[in-house]
Amino acid sequence: MDHKSQINIDNLPSHVAIIMDGNGRWAKRHGKPRIFGHQNGVKAVRETTEAAAELGIEYLTLYAFSTENWNRPKLEVNALMSLLVETLRKEINTLMENNIRLKAIGDLSKLPSRTYQALLEGMAKTASNNRMTLNLALNYSARWEINNAVQLIAKDIEKNVLQAADLTEEIFNQYLTTKDIPDPELMIRTSGEYRISNFLLYQLAYSELYFTETLWPDFRKEHLYQAIIDFQSRERRFGKTSEQIASNKR
Ligand code: IPE
Ligand code: IPE
Ligand code: MG
Repeated sequence: MDHKSQINIDNLPSHVAIIMDGNGRWAKRHGKPRIFGHQNGVKAVRETTEAAAELGIEYLTLYAFSTENWNRPKLEVNALMSLLVETLRKEINTLMENNIRLKAIGDLSKLPSRTYQALLEGMAKTASNNRMTLNLALNYSARWEINNAVQLIAKDIEKNVLQAADLTEEIFNQYLTTKDIPDPELMIRTSGEYRISNFLLYQLAYSELYFTETLWPDFRKEHLYQAIIDFQSRERRFGKTSEQIASNKR
């Protein structure tokens, strides 16, 4: 069935964030080493990015590597970092053709220098594209991000750039890696795991969460459409009552 036609274009999430999970299990099911799953996850990234841009979603954040992922076998980490460089280099032209800006969040300078350089090049080249922002969470964890924000704030208070009493939520937001990006309205996790795994803990405060059993390498445009249709069927109350929401709509 064609799900795309069921999407209400006037009620799109402006920011969708995805925990791309299940590559290893996908590979295992195919009797292959884990890295085969990561390689096949690239197609899902391509499809999802394309579908999001076509719909008119403004920001797509993909959790590609967590700070905890360094604890995986060295062989897998190295292969993932090489795959990232290779994919960034290969896909930049497609991003240019589609007017998509590349951005990244995380402790980026601690990435291997080849990966970091490829990322910087990609971001610089696509910097003035404005159809959609593809935001990669790389060497990212929310606790790192919040700790980092607090450190930056402490420094600004020491330097008298900021007064502790002036620290509002709006100003706090400016110290997060997502400072120019709205909070995700929709967060998707694939592979049937029901957890956040240190992803955007602060920004997900009021996001709608969508979990699917689909393993990331199998994720296609249709799966994104289904998640958005599900999102559109929900009532987002932000602490209010259902009656208040209904009367505002009238
Ligand atoms: C997600 O797939 C990709 C990364 C975390 C880099 P996994 O590699 O976590 O796959 P599973 O969860 O082991 O199946
Ligand atoms: C979360 O997936 C990180 C990414 C998708 C990059 P993991 O597979 O690392 O999460 P846990 O450790 O199972 O929670
Ligand atoms: Mg996993």
